[in-house]
Amino acid sequence: MKLFTTALLFAAAPMALGSAVPQLERKMTYDGYKVFRISTHHNPAAIKSKIAKFAAIPFNLDNNEHLDVAIPPEEVAAFEKLGLETSVMHQDLGKDVAEEGNFATYESTVGTQAVPSLTWFNSYHAYADHRTFFNDLQASFPSNSEIFEIGNSFQGRPIFGIHIWGSGGKGSKPAIYFHGTVHAREWISAKVVEYITYQLLTQYSTDTAIKAIRDKYDFYILPFVNPDGFVYTQTNERLWRKNRQTRSGASCVGTDINRNWPYKWEVTGGASTSPCSETYKGQAAGDTPENKALVAFTQKLKASKGIKLYIDWHSYGQYILLPYGYNCAARASNHATQSSLASGLATRIRQSYGTSFTTGPSCSTLYQTTGSAPDYLTDVGGATFAWTIELRPAGSSGGGFVLPPAQILPSGIEQWEGMKYLLANV
Ligand code: ARG
Ligand code: ZN
Repeated sequence: MKLFTTALLFAAAPMALGSAVPQLERKMTYDGYKVFRISTHHNPAAIKSKIAKFAAIPFNLDNNEHLDVAIPPEEVAAFEKLGLETSVMHQDLGKDVAEEGNFATYESTVGTQAVPSLTWFNSYHAYADHRTFFNDLQASFPSNSEIFEIGNSFQGRPIFGIHIWGSGGKGSKPAIYFHGTVHAREWISAKVVEYITYQLLTQYSTDTAIKAIRDKYDFYILPFVNPDGFVYTQTNERLWRKNRQTRSGASCVGTDINRNWPYKWEVTGGASTSPCSETYKGQAAGDTPENKALVAFTQKLKASKGIKLYIDWHSYGQYILLPYGYNCAARASNHATQSSLASGLATRIRQSYGTSFTTGPSCSTLYQTTGSAPDYLTDVGGATFAWTIELRPAGSSGGGFVLPPAQILPSGIEQWEGMKYLLANV
C-alpha cells in the first residue's frame, strides 16, 4: 500500500522532505483536506489497496475496524466515488487546523511567584510558552518541586520535566512517571499532563486526598519527550508524528520514539524498518538521542525508589492500554489487578462528562507495537503499572489529532478526576 511510502509523503507534503533548509515560510495549511474514517469490515488490507492510489495522509495505524485518512482536495471527489462506508472526521481540516492554531499569548508570571492562570487551558500554545509555563508553575512552589533536564533531542533541545515531591522530601518515594508528546502531533497530551501537574501542585495545601497522594510518591512529569517533532508540527507540518532525526542513506526524516525502546525491538510485526514509515523503528534498539536519554533516566528512577506507575499520554481514540504491545497473548504478571484498576479509572473518567474509554492489553485491544515504552517500563524498568492512555477524541464522533481548543479543559478535568482515583488505589 502506498500510505507509508516516500512517494506518498512527497505527494502529501512536498515541502517537508529532503532538505535541511528551514521551511517556516512553507507551512502546510491542509486547506480543503477532508478526513474520513473508513470502515474496514475487518479487512483493512482490502481498503488499503483500494485507496493506494490516493495521496492520503494516514491518521491511524493498524486498526482492524477502521482506517482514518486525510484526502487532499483534488482527490476528494474521486475518493467519494469509491463508495466506501465512511464517516467524516474533518469536513475541512485546514479550517480546524487554523482554529486550533489561534494561540493565546501567555503572560509569564516570572518574578511574581503567582500561579499561572487557568486560562492557559483555553487554547494551545507555542513550544517556548510551554517551557515558560512550566518554569512559572514550578517557581510558585519552589520548596516542593524542581525543573530537570534528562538530555537533548536530536536537534539539541533539552528534554525537560518537573519533579514534584511531598512531606517525605525530594526523591524519598516511589515514582509516578509521565511522558507527554511522544508523538509530535498529539497536542492534547501535553495540555492534559500540564493540567494534572497544575492540580497536583495547587491542591496540595487545601485537599487532604491530594496531600496524601503527594506525600506517598515522587512525581516525574515530562510533557515533551519529542520536542523537535512538536516544534515541527507548529512550524511546518501539523500532522508530523516521529522525531526529526536524519540518517545517512535515508531521504526520509524521523524515527518513531515509541518503536525504538530497547526491549523486544527486534520482534517483527509491530514496527517498520523503512525510514519513510510513520512507525520507523530506527537502525538499532534505542538509537535515537531521545530514547537514549529516556532510557538513562528510567534506569535512574528504577535504581532510586522504583517506579510505581508510568503513563505514556497519547491521542487519539479514548483507550487505557495495558501491557503488552509486542505480543497479543502476553499478559503482565499482575494483569488482573491492572484490569480492575483500568476499569475503575474508566468509570471515574466517565463521571465528569460521560466520555467513554476502552480498556485492555494494548496489542490485543488496538494493534501490535514493538520497542514501545510500556513494555520496556514493565519488564526492564520494573514499573508495577505501565500504561498508554489515548486521549480524546474517540474519532467516531469527529476529529482526530486536531482537537478543538474548547475540549482542552474538559480533557484535563476528566483525566485529573481519573488520576485522583488511580493514584489513591495503586
Ligand atoms: N498510538 C500509540 C502508538 O502507535 C500507542 C500504541 C499503543 N500500544 C499498542 N500496542 N497498540 O505508538
Ligand atoms: Zn501516539
